[in-house]
Amino acid sequence: MITSLLYTSKSTAAAADIPAQVEHILAVARPRNLSLGVTGALFADRGLYAQVLEGSRESVDVLMDYIDRDPRHNGIAIVRDRQISARQFANWSMAHVPPSRALDELLDALALPGEAGEGAAARFVETLRHSASALLRL
Ligand SMILES: Cc1cc2nc3c(=O)[nH]c(=O)nc-3n(C[C@H](O)[C@H](O)[C@H](O)COP(=O)(O)O)c2cc1C
Repeated sequence: MITSLLYTSKSTAAAADIPAQVEHILAVARPRNLSLGVTGALFADRGLYAQVLEGSRESVDVLMDYIDRDPRHNGIAIVRDRQISARQFANWSMAHVPPSRALDELLDALALPGEAGEGAAARFVETLRHSASALLRL
């Protein structure tokens, strides 16, 4: 089984500096994730981050430990942590998915309690995957 973890957080950078922050994060994240066997997607919009990490329980935990202590963001909230049978981002060491209206709306719904939040999380990850696939075909 593969561990799939979705969290949200708040960037500590000024809005204008976030694109550069994302580029720096991806430059380090991609080779490291590859060596850890971790795949996933990173989304940044309105000063918020949302990230999916998938891999072995151990690799995801090791990574989350680093990410947790990273001063470039705070307010980390684990939205979903589950076991899945197949990776949803098998082609990406870390896809960078640009903002869209659909993702924006779902991002707001992630914080809803109970089934509403769980449904939003599932649709958010699925929409991230679709967006990442669409980018690959460009
Ligand atoms: C929003 C966010 C997402 C991140 N995602 C990853 C990631 O997927 N993989 C990774 O190796 N580092 C990621 N990082 C960076 C780590 O927190 C850490 O800086 C990096 O692993 C390098 O750590 P070190 O150079 O101090 O050893 C992320 C940081 C932030 C703020």
